[in-house]
Amino acid sequence: MENKAINPLISPKPSEAKPDTELESLRIWGKHPLSGHVHISGAKNSVLAIMAGALLCPQHCRLRNVPSLADIAKMRQVLEALGVKIERHNDTLELDTSHLSTSKAPYDLVSQLRASFFVTGPLLTRLGTARVPLPGGCAIGARPVDLHVRGLQAMGAEVHIEHGIVHADIRGSGGRLKGAKIYLDYPSVGATETLLMAATLADGETIIENAAQEPEVEDLANFCRAMGAKIRGAGTNTITIVGVPNLHSVDYGIIPDRIEAGTFLVAGAITHSEISISPVIPEHLTPVIAKLKDIGSEIVLDGPNRLRIIPGELRATDIETLPYPGFPTDMQAQLMALLTLAEGNSVVTETVFENRMRHVAELVRMGADIRIKGQNAIIRGVSHLSGAPVLATDLRASAALVLAGLAAEGETLVQGLHHLDRGYDDLETKLKGLGAKVQRVSP
Ligand code: EPU
Repeated sequence: MENKAINPLISPKPSEAKPDTELESLRIWGKHPLSGHVHISGAKNSVLAIMAGALLCPQHCRLRNVPSLADIAKMRQVLEALGVKIERHNDTLELDTSHLSTSKAPYDLVSQLRASFFVTGPLLTRLGTARVPLPGGCAIGARPVDLHVRGLQAMGAEVHIEHGIVHADIRGSGGRLKGAKIYLDYPSVGATETLLMAATLADGETIIENAAQEPEVEDLANFCRAMGAKIRGAGTNTITIVGVPNLHSVDYGIIPDRIEAGTFLVAGAITHSEISISPVIPEHLTPVIAKLKDIGSEIVLDGPNRLRIIPGELRATDIETLPYPGFPTDMQAQLMALLTLAEGNSVVTETVFENRMRHVAELVRMGADIRIKGQNAIIRGVSHLSGAPVLATDLRASAALVLAGLAAEGETLVQGLHHLDRGYDDLETKLKGLGAKVQRVSP
């Protein structure tokens, strides 16, 4: 067996190498103005789905623009447990999926990363069988997978759950799933991605109605098309996939992360600093830009893939999270941090996940005036926040607390940095590059 520890080509980048950053904190000295430019990394949620999608092709896949994130390191472990050979060279992942040794995903890994459930569709459609543990709930909600399962059943799979493990099999019909017309009760990103991947190798045409329209779904579809899949309509609410017998190898570049981009725009707004970001796909940020404008900032296009924020006085606004092209739930916490300092009253309504307001209590500890009523957070703008030790409870909550810390008077200590490292590629180095006073502290 190759020795991963001494092979420089495959040794993980520093933030992937840390087994556990649970005990680390980020110390932030607030109220330092930011300036300059930030490079935006590849989209986490595209990469996670596309890594699973690589299982569809029994050859070699090269993925470029892959950020260095704890979630991606976990997904790598899941794929390696299935027999995929993976190497990382800077931001490129080389995946050799020619020999899968098992169709069973290990519980200890799947339970740590919900996105690893995405392997179900590709394993089933390629091997005719998949055994994947139910991922379980997480900090932001129960997150069932009923829509994934019902869609696979509509395509002829036998699916049942035994001892917490999803058993999915294709019986008869030449070992292929059958194309089907599937209406999703809710435009779930994950269910759309599972079914889209499963349909690429199915026999006949699959139509997914009320499909998720998120840019990451479209990115996955483009990746599959680059491998030879026949897919139309990705990025709209109706996706049509005509199954092909097999897919071929691919070299694919991931789109920029719209949530990382949005988080940096909020960093500019909350610190009253003019900063620019690139590369971005500006249309992917339409709802976020619209809300930042309502709140008082100007966002200008400095080039086809470059945005600059010119901050203004902060004004209250209302926000409701919705599936794309509505306002993204993944930006809710960051915008809430901004609204704590806006003049007037704002209401933020979370409709996508049932438990995604845990940052509220921590923002209140920093002096914010927020009350929760059901799915709504009612925010009365305050003149300032004050630094405090706070605990990150999930990925986007941790970003919100970092943003609040940048604007707060005095020192903020954000604990639970492992959440941040799941989804932000070296945030502290990027913030330091803008002039922020931040430091990672280990116990
Ligand atoms: N849902 C069901 N049944 C299903 C699937 C989903 O009831 O079978 C519900 C969920 O419980 C949730 C809602 O539908 O209440 C939306 O879930 P969705 O399936 O759309 O989300 P996901 O695929 O689990 C992805 C992102 C999330 C992002 C959401 C919504 C990945 C790996 N994750 O999750 O990203 O919030 O879409 O846009 O793609 C993050 O990056 O911080 C993050 C949580």
